[in-house]
Amino acid sequence: MPGGHPPRPRDPAGRPDRPAPGDRPPGSPRSDRARADRARSDRARAEAAAAVYTPAVLKLYDAAVLGAVCSLVWRCPRREMLSLYERNLSARHLEVGPGTGYFLDRSPAPVPEPRLTLLDLNPQVLATARRRLARYSPAVRCGNVLEPLELDGGPFSSVALNFVLHCLPCPATEKGAVFDHLLPHMAPGARVFGSTVLAHGVHHTPLSRHHLRTLARHGVLHAGDDSLELLRAALESRFDHCRIRTRGAVALFEATGRPRRRRG
Ligand SMILES: C[S@@+](CC[C@H](N)C(=O)[O-])C[C@H]1O[C@@H](n2cnc3c(N)ncnc32)[C@H](O)[C@@H]1O
Repeated sequence: MPGGHPPRPRDPAGRPDRPAPGDRPPGSPRSDRARADRARSDRARAEAAAAVYTPAVLKLYDAAVLGAVCSLVWRCPRREMLSLYERNLSARHLEVGPGTGYFLDRSPAPVPEPRLTLLDLNPQVLATARRRLARYSPAVRCGNVLEPLELDGGPFSSVALNFVLHCLPCPATEKGAVFDHLLPHMAPGARVFGSTVLAHGVHHTPLSRHHLRTLARHGVLHAGDDSLELLRAALESRFDHCRIRTRGAVALFEATGRPRRRRG
């Protein structure tokens, strides 16, 4: 991924499809079993990370996370994300990891009747966001963005991933696989946008570093090796036009243009 090279094909968990030292030859029963075991444990980790967003947490989320933590700890007020939505929302939008649906609720609709699909690994999140956004009659899909996706309502002209990448429990070098799973559902010229807390390449204070470590210990944040450099490489290797700004400990990204034809 770094250096703008086209990424290698990946397995459903987003790992490069390349035998590791000691792997059995593909097709051998032991290698197939090892692969299946790894896919199962990756999925269990992803489900555990998304399960943090219980109904009780979702009740407090807008005020506590988007209000207080965003501004005071990450030093990126939520109006920054809101302006990303206002700039990039389209008539056919896919929201990955909608949480409470706050940003879609607060953003002006780009057309009178936008088509909206919500994707999340946590059914309780989907139920909460669907209720809040009922005026758009959204389609909902329970799925893991770390795996290839089956989605209704596409191809989408905009896709948002706000505060999602830092929740994904995989190495930073593998997070770009998320875009590989979204690309087949994006129309030519579609935009992908969002924000994510990074550990490296952004400005941290002692308070934000402490928060990053504490939330990682509790399995809420998985951003310990996430960097601006890797985020940039993940986007630039897949899209023609990328823009990343940092504000406090957060990177805000927008990528547009025709998805690049992938080699291999
Ligand atoms: C920190 S919340 C962000 C919520 C919202 N986007 C916002 O900015 O307020 C992360 C969201 O991503 C979802 N999520 C986490 N891991 C996921 C995965 N592997 N696939 C799909 N959704 C996931 C969570 O359930 C949750 O809704």
